[in-house]
Amino acid sequence: VTSDPIRWLWAAALVGAWLLLALGIALIRRRRAQPVSASADAVLIAFASQTGFGESLAQMTARALTEAGLAVRLVSFSELDLQALTTARRALFIVSTTGEGDPPDSAARAVRRMLSEPAKLDGLFYGLLALGDRSYRDFCAFGHALEGWLDRSGAARLFDTVEVDDGEAGAIRHWQTQLGQITGHAAAPDWAPPAYDRWRLVERALVNPGSPGGQAWRLAFEPVGAAPDWSAGDIVEVGAPAQPGEPAPAHREYSAASLPDDGRLELLVRLMSRPDGSPGLASGWLTGRLEIGGEAMIRLRTNRAFHGPSPQTPMILIGNGTGIAGLRAHLKAREAAVATGGAWLMFGERTRAHDAFYDDDLQAWLAAGVLTRSDRTFSRDPEGGYVQDTITRHAQEVRDWVARGAAVYVCGSLQGMAPGVHAALEAALGAPRVAELLETGRYRRDVY
Ligand SMILES: Cc1cc2nc3c(=O)[nH]c(=O)nc-3n(C[C@H](O)[C@H](O)[C@H](O)COP(=O)(O)OP(=O)(O)OC[C@H]3O[C@@H](n4cnc5c(N)ncnc54)[C@H](O)[C@@H]3O)c2cc1C
Ligand SMILES: Cc1cc2nc3c(=O)[nH]c(=O)nc-3n(C[C@H](O)[C@H](O)[C@H](O)COP(=O)(O)O)c2cc1C
Repeated sequence: VTSDPIRWLWAAALVGAWLLLALGIALIRRRRAQPVSASADAVLIAFASQTGFGESLAQMTARALTEAGLAVRLVSFSELDLQALTTARRALFIVSTTGEGDPPDSAARAVRRMLSEPAKLDGLFYGLLALGDRSYRDFCAFGHALEGWLDRSGAARLFDTVEVDDGEAGAIRHWQTQLGQITGHAAAPDWAPPAYDRWRLVERALVNPGSPGGQAWRLAFEPVGAAPDWSAGDIVEVGAPAQPGEPAPAHREYSAASLPDDGRLELLVRLMSRPDGSPGLASGWLTGRLEIGGEAMIRLRTNRAFHGPSPQTPMILIGNGTGIAGLRAHLKAREAAVATGGAWLMFGERTRAHDAFYDDDLQAWLAAGVLTRSDRTFSRDPEGGYVQDTITRHAQEVRDWVARGAAVYVCGSLQGMAPGVHAALEAALGAPRVAELLETGRYRRDVY
């Protein structure tokens, strides 16, 4: 070992320099490892979607910006807070309207916490894509409410709000063009919706002959090519052939009643009739004119807002009519996952004799313990009642299930059933608790 002080000084200086270099590299790496999204330069993309269409557009928007070299932060309204808005310089909002002019359930928390009074968003520039359907009275009502709040909060528009009527392709192209203001690229990539797949109708049966309600048909399709993947809660988009005088196929949505492991896609379709008595366009074709062995153009849409909870979470499944289709897919998923949380079905229809849809499945699931409890109520039978009355009658058990962590899933009619169920839940649990369940994703709805 040397005792020369000069050598010692050199050694200490070298070690010091090495330590400084290592520290510098670590700092640079740390900065690089930080999510780009955390930066104020990242464009905030916030979506509120009830049935998955807006979420898919938000993902495509994020991809377009990322491909143009921009940093983005993609968030659902369920995670959105004021801090994210005040730190962002640019934000894009993609929001749909549901119910009767209502915000999507995932926006309930943001509406209560943020939108109740103006904020201070002077530094924010925003663009808004409002999804809706002109056949509803309050077209794009939530998009307009959000726009009003942003304006009152001092945010400035990057461009005029783009309204989309029933997924209209021209409006979506307009949104893409407007994105050019942010990316600096005029050319917009093609955002054509995913192509339909070919499916063959292999089985169809009327499940409620003699019912006082409209005809309900079980349909089963097999894929002509490779079967896509899907989960319980996802939506089946059917392109029914164009009618004479109409240029494009009619696009209608149905709840998937089966899972990919079944090897087939099952639907439960109610035959609708138009005011003049003629059959509904898509339901008339699916339940009648489409022949067994005939092909249908179908694509599956992810609907994360109605995906199931963990197998350990107890589930209360509530529905009426064809809403049992979406609930059945969840019960199939619970069976496959050997779920331990338990499941309680509450279902309402007209008569037990004719409308006990999927009775065999339900009995088997009760016997196997997949269903812990089943309460079906039939409004035209002597004991009468609607599904919401079941909640009221068993309010204490509903409270117990929710206290044990149960998630509540509602599928079926928007008219009558969904508001009735909501009111009964509020009476049983208290309105603040129901709001909390909705805001935290423990109360989910797929109603139409
Ligand atoms: C997310 C979602 C999931 C759905 N899941 C199912 C399902 O699992 N099974 C099922 O049978 N249907 C389901 N529907 C409804 C379905 O998409 C169609 O609206 C329905 O089949 C009628 O379409 P159509 O072309 O036959 O009737 P159209 O020719 O469009 O219209 C027929 C008549 O029925 C009225 N009408 C249309 N839709 C409804 C409605 N939903 N409620 C009340 N009146 C209506 C119209 O005002 C019109 O008078 C779902 C809808 C959504 C949005
Ligand atoms: C049950 C239901 C209720 C709806 N209510 C409205 C409405 O009140 N106003 C409107 O403009 N659009 C309404 N729509 C149309 C949706 O906003 C439109 O289909 C939108 O593309 C859905 O986007 P999402 O999948 O991201 O939720 C409704 C759609 C459904 C299925």
